[in-house]
Amino acid sequence: MCGIVGYWGKKNSVPILIKGLRRLEYRGYDSAGIAVLDGNNLNYLKRSGKVKILEDALKGSHIKGKIGIAHTRWATHGIPNDINAHPQMDVTDSIALIHNGIIENHSTLREILIRDGVKFRSETDTEVLVQLISSIYNHNGLSLEEAVRAALQKVVGAYGIVLISKDEPDKLIAARFGSPLVIGIGEGEYFVASDAAPIIEYTRKVMYLDEGEMAIISNGELTIKKIFDNTVVSKKISNVEWSVEQIEKGNFPHYMLKEIHEQERTVIDTMRGRLRVEEGDAFLGGIQDFLPRIESARRYYITACGTSWHAGMIGKYLLEEYAGIPVHVEYASEFRYRESIVGPDTVVIAISQSGETADTLAAIRKARDKGALTMGICNVVGSSISRETDCGVYTHAGPEIGVASTKAFTAQVTVLSMFALMLGRRKQRLSKSQGQEITRSMNKLGGYIKEVLADDEQLKIVARATQHVNNYLYLGRGLNFPVALEGALKLKEISYIHAEGYPAAEMKHGPIALIDEKMPVVFIAPRDKTYKKILANIEQVKSRKGITIVFTDKRSEEIERLSDYLIVLPSTHDHIFPILVSIPLQLLAYHLAVLRGCNIDQPRNLAKSVTVE
Ligand code: AGP
Repeated sequence: MCGIVGYWGKKNSVPILIKGLRRLEYRGYDSAGIAVLDGNNLNYLKRSGKVKILEDALKGSHIKGKIGIAHTRWATHGIPNDINAHPQMDVTDSIALIHNGIIENHSTLREILIRDGVKFRSETDTEVLVQLISSIYNHNGLSLEEAVRAALQKVVGAYGIVLISKDEPDKLIAARFGSPLVIGIGEGEYFVASDAAPIIEYTRKVMYLDEGEMAIISNGELTIKKIFDNTVVSKKISNVEWSVEQIEKGNFPHYMLKEIHEQERTVIDTMRGRLRVEEGDAFLGGIQDFLPRIESARRYYITACGTSWHAGMIGKYLLEEYAGIPVHVEYASEFRYRESIVGPDTVVIAISQSGETADTLAAIRKARDKGALTMGICNVVGSSISRETDCGVYTHAGPEIGVASTKAFTAQVTVLSMFALMLGRRKQRLSKSQGQEITRSMNKLGGYIKEVLADDEQLKIVARATQHVNNYLYLGRGLNFPVALEGALKLKEISYIHAEGYPAAEMKHGPIALIDEKMPVVFIAPRDKTYKKILANIEQVKSRKGITIVFTDKRSEEIERLSDYLIVLPSTHDHIFPILVSIPLQLLAYHLAVLRGCNIDQPRNLAKSVTVE
C-alpha cells in the first residue's frame, strides 16, 4: 500500500529512485512522484497514473541531485491525480514529504492550519502533515528534525514517512509508526524504502525501523532515535537473502504466471530441512522453544486476511483433526475489535505473506496484550509480524510481486500441514505410519505440481468458453471448501468476474437459485469421503443446465458424464490435494483475466500489502 523510496549518497538519485518505484509499483499504482535536492534547490514532479508516465515526464526535465525521495500511491484521501500524488509540499515548496498510511486526525489539524493562514492545494491527509511540520519549523526556531518530532507528537494514525527540505539540504529524515520502512546501508550511501525490493541491487545490509522510530541521515551518518523521547537507538544490521532475479519477471509475461510456475520449487523450499519423511514427522525450528506452551494451549486462534485467511481455514481443519485442539479462524479486522476468548492459555497464529498487513498486525498486538502466545507464519523475513510475534515459521516462498497471492498460499498451507502433523505426532494422535503417509505424499508434491503445470490446455479451453460470463461459483467440501473460497477470490480479483465460494452442500440453501446455462460451477471433487455427496451436487447443477467444471483425481464414467469440463490431477493424500488443486484454479483465473484483457499483476483498486485499516 503505497511504495516509498529515498536515496542519500554520491550518485544522481533520479535513476535509482525511478527504478526503486518500478520495483515497488506492486504496492500501489495510481500516481507517482519524485522530489530531489540539488544543493539548495528542491525540484519535484508528480503524475497521475503508472510510474512509466512519471519516468517519461522526467526525461524532459532537468531534475537531478544526490538526495531524493519518490512515491507510488494507492489513494486513500483524494482521487488519484497530479495534485494529490506524493511528494506533498509545504506552502513554500521548501519541504517535500512522502507518506504511506493514514493520518486519522487530519481534518482537525487541517482546520487549525487553515485558521493560521495555510493554503492547502490537495485533498490528502499527507499534505496536512507536511504543512504542520513546516508551520512548526518556521514559527518555533526548531531544526527540521525537532519540527518533525514535534509534528509527529500531534498526529494520530499510521505513517511511514520520508522527507527532505531545501533549508537543510544535506538531510533526509524518515519515521515509522504503523507502516513499514527499511533502511539500506551502502558504501557512503543510504536507501530508505517500504520494503527491501528497491534496495537489494545496491546492498544486502539493512535495518528495519521499529514502531515509533525515526532515522536521520546527514553528513554521511545514520542516526536512529525514538520519536517520542529522542533517545538514540542502536540497531542490528540484518542481511537480506532475496536476489535481484527473484524480483524480476524473467521470461514470463506476468509475475503472477512466474509465481504460479515457481510453486513446483517453492513448496520444496518450504519443506526443506523440516519434513522428516521416514519418521513421518516434521520439525519447525522457529517454534521449538515454545512447544510446551503450544501443546498445552486450550485453544488456538488463527487470524489473517484474504488469501492468508483461506490458508488459515485449511489449517483449522488439519489442526483439529491431527492435534485435537479447537481452532477459531477469524478475520484480523474482526479479531482486533471483538472480545474473543483469548488469554494466556491461547495461541494466536497470524498468517501473512507480507507480514505487514495492518489488521493482522493489530490483531497480534491485541493477542499479546491479552497474554496469549503469538506465532507468525510469514513470508517476508524481518517483516513487522515476524518481528512482533513470540515465535514463528517462515514460509520461504521467495518474494511475491503479483498482487494476487499464489505461491505464498501454497507455502502457507504447506507450513500449516507440517505444523498440524508435528503436533499430531507429539500428541500421539497420529501414528508413525499415518505420519509417513502424509510426509511421503508431501515429499512428492513438487513432482505432482510439475505435472499439473506441464499441461494447462484444458484450462485454456474452459477460460475461452467462459470468458464472457458475469458470475462463477466454486464448490468444495471439507478441506476443499477453503480452496473453493480461494479459487473464487483469485478469479474476482484479477478478472473482475463476480465469483463466490461455498461448501458444496450449502448450494441447495440458496446459490442454486443462480444456476442456469450461463453459470459455470467449479467443483473440487477428489475421491475422498464426501466424493459421492459432491457427485450428487454436480448432478443437481447439471440438471439445471449449469456449466460443470470438475477438478478430481481419478477419471470415471460417472464423473465424465457429469462434467462439461473435467480436469484430472495426480492422485495424492486427501490432505495434500488442496495444495495441488489450488494451482490449476490459479491458472484458470489467470487465463480468464488474460482473455478479458485485465491488468494481471496490478488489478484495479488493489495493492499488494494492505498497511492501512
Ligand atoms: C490475495 O490474492 C490478496 N491480494 C489479498 O487477499 C491478501 O492475501 C491479503 O491482503 C493478506 O495479505 P498478507 O498475506 O500479506 O497479510
